[in-house]
Amino acid sequence: MNFTKLRTTVGLDVRGKRAIVRVDLNVPMADGHVTDATRLVRIAPCLSDLAARGARVLVISHYERPKGRDPKYSLRPVAEKLSEVLGAPVGFVDDCIGPAVDAAVAALAPGQILVLENLRFHAGEEKNDPEFARALARSGDLFVGEAFSSSHRAHASVDGITRLLPSYAGPLMAQEISALRDALEEPRRPTAAVVGGSKVSTKIPILTNLVRKVDRLIIGGGMANTFLQAQGFNVGKSLSEPDFHGTAREIIAAANASGCVIVLPSDGVVAAELKAGASSKVVAVDAIPPESMMLDVGPRSIAEMSAVVRECRTLLWNGPLGAFEISPFGEGTFLLAREAAMLTRAGRLASVAGGGDTVAALNAAGVTGDFTYVSTAGGAFLEWLEGRELPGVAALLREAA
Ligand code: 3PG
Repeated sequence: MNFTKLRTTVGLDVRGKRAIVRVDLNVPMADGHVTDATRLVRIAPCLSDLAARGARVLVISHYERPKGRDPKYSLRPVAEKLSEVLGAPVGFVDDCIGPAVDAAVAALAPGQILVLENLRFHAGEEKNDPEFARALARSGDLFVGEAFSSSHRAHASVDGITRLLPSYAGPLMAQEISALRDALEEPRRPTAAVVGGSKVSTKIPILTNLVRKVDRLIIGGGMANTFLQAQGFNVGKSLSEPDFHGTAREIIAAANASGCVIVLPSDGVVAAELKAGASSKVVAVDAIPPESMMLDVGPRSIAEMSAVVRECRTLLWNGPLGAFEISPFGEGTFLLAREAAMLTRAGRLASVAGGGDTVAALNAAGVTGDFTYVSTAGGAFLEWLEGRELPGVAALLREAA
């Protein structure tokens, strides 16, 4: 993809124009309240800037996966939180197309911001229905794609609408694309990737793509057990996927063929059960007791993995190394994350992380702010790591509408 063709909102004359901004308001909520406003904080500069430059700003997004209209999935409480984050009033209309929207948009003054109701209340959104895209586009003079975290969805508000309006990448979209390209396509070498998480089966395309692109691949979490088992180690009762031994061996062979060194744990923290405060001990991976499960990487592994990261100039991170949510099985993830944070602060490493669990683990380690870049994306980040073209990014690279 030719990223030089990405048109952004920088310098664009938006005065008096109706700017439809596709953001990702799919934020964690409990009891009708937003519990993590990170995504709102990250889109705030785009919305404030467009409003300050005199645009009439229409904010559109999905929330969760409703089957049709359902008040449980209304964006109204998110719009209220957004107003708090922006420190400015934000209007709300309880639909995203139709007469109520037409009236609210007609009354919208330059500099004002209006959030429209959940796009997924209309089936046409996920179907990328051209009629629905046309109904959305009617409200705007231009379109801003600011939802990198939804760009793996070829939906009407991500793809279809860009065929109907002049379309631009917002600042967060541009930042996400550039950070991920710097880490994966044009990195400072040597490069390392940390891939953790419980199952190999969910990350085969990522591992297959990464062994071709990075110099060192550190594998942790439950998926490391499958790799160890495939090499003849007895992993006791650890989570593993024996059906994927062949896949693990193929990934190792592909890594060897492209000169990527795979780093697996050499020791682990084992316990009889996954329970907070469970009695645990450190054993070498060739001495895992039959009744135990490996729930974190051990201190020798951390020392080895840290040494690998210290040799590298770029680090991509997706997935925890152990069951980090349950003490004491988060230490491996936290220690390696702190090493990466320290190297980043020292200017020796460019560190890029993404994915829901990963960000939660970095938050728990207290290092999120020290990484070079932490993506707001979950699924889209994973698809990017798989080397797939993201429809929402491709749409913004197409010729102008
Ligand atoms: C996300 O939270 O990763 C995005 O908003 C995409 O949500 P979806 O998986 O429901 O499309």
